[in-house]
Amino acid sequence: MDEKQIVQLPDEICEFIDSCMEKPHPQSYLIAVLHKVQEYFGYLADPILDEVAYRMQIPTANVSGTATFYHFFRQQPKGKYAISVCLGTACFVNGADEVLIAFQDELGIQLGETTTDGQFSIESSRCVGVCALAPVVLVNEQVYSNVTPQQVPDILNSVRAAR
Ligand code: FES
Repeated sequence: MDEKQIVQLPDEICEFIDSCMEKPHPQSYLIAVLHKVQEYFGYLADPILDEVAYRMQIPTANVSGTATFYHFFRQQPKGKYAISVCLGTACFVNGADEVLIAFQDELGIQLGETTTDGQFSIESSRCVGVCALAPVVLVNEQVYSNVTPQQVPDILNSVRAAR
């Protein structure tokens, strides 16, 4: 999305923001608003955050700060292949953090980023409900279990080969 583009928020989000603005402490609804906006657009680009800031009468820097602080908000669209590393407790204690680093190193991007060719993005998730298979990685709907950092190149190669 062009960073200078002016974004029109959809009616449903405008109405939600308006309802929040009628309540006490409307700024406390910022995270809820950002969730709705991300659900609609898929990510939170700067022009979108500018529009949210304007409508909620919050400084843009505060809105951007919130959007970049929380891991569940994205500033870029997801890649064609969305890699999601589970960082829930069972996965974490079994080395998910090292798996995450291996994906970052292999792809040259950080958590929440997308490769320049738009093919891969990396995100984290909380427990996906299959702790016995920890550490768990999802690539779109495909589940990879008991993943080690050493397996990461093979996982990426298998995804590349399948496309
Ligand atoms: S903590 Fe990762 S699947 Fe439960």
